[in-house]
Amino acid sequence: MVQTTITVTVDGTSYTDQVEPRMLLVQYLRETLGKTGTLIGCDTSNCGACTVHLDGVSVKSCTMFAVQADGHEVTTIEGIAGADGLHPMQTAFHENHALQCGFCTPGMIMASIDLLRENPNPDEQMIRDGLEGNLCRCTGYQNIVKAVRSAAETEAAKVELGATIPVGQPS
Ligand code: FES
Ligand code: FES
Repeated sequence: MVQTTITVTVDGTSYTDQVEPRMLLVQYLRETLGKTGTLIGCDTSNCGACTVHLDGVSVKSCTMFAVQADGHEVTTIEGIAGADGLHPMQTAFHENHALQCGFCTPGMIMASIDLLRENPNPDEQMIRDGLEGNLCRCTGYQNIVKAVRSAAETEAAKVELGATIPVGQPS
């Protein structure tokens, strides 16, 4: 069986592994590294449950091969909390009751962080458009939108106070 050696930094730790060229990034994260916080919700690249950041930009990790992440930096839901606690987006989801079953939540949070990186002050429609690649079967999206707005306001407040914690970076 052909194997390729890859070196990937995941959640701040460098890993070197032998992988089959056909192994998906999401499989590598879950099965090789045990990062099961990144979920698989479909086999059609539609749901977004597998969303992670590749060099800071959100990607569906079921849509790329592990070998394509060679030499890159991957951040999963398991790598965004800081020493002081939850990432501001995790806190916003918690405080705004933006989840029910929670299956979409890891991917939704990773996509939301990237959304604010691109547009720190999105309105409701921009949030809905920005998250259209992430499906939620439970919440009706209302509280997810509220959570992202709330995270945006929190980040804006921090910038105003000169105590910026960049969205997408561990606090
Ligand atoms: S598992 Fe559904 S989009 Fe990746
Ligand atoms: S909270 Fe259940 S799928 Fe979103």
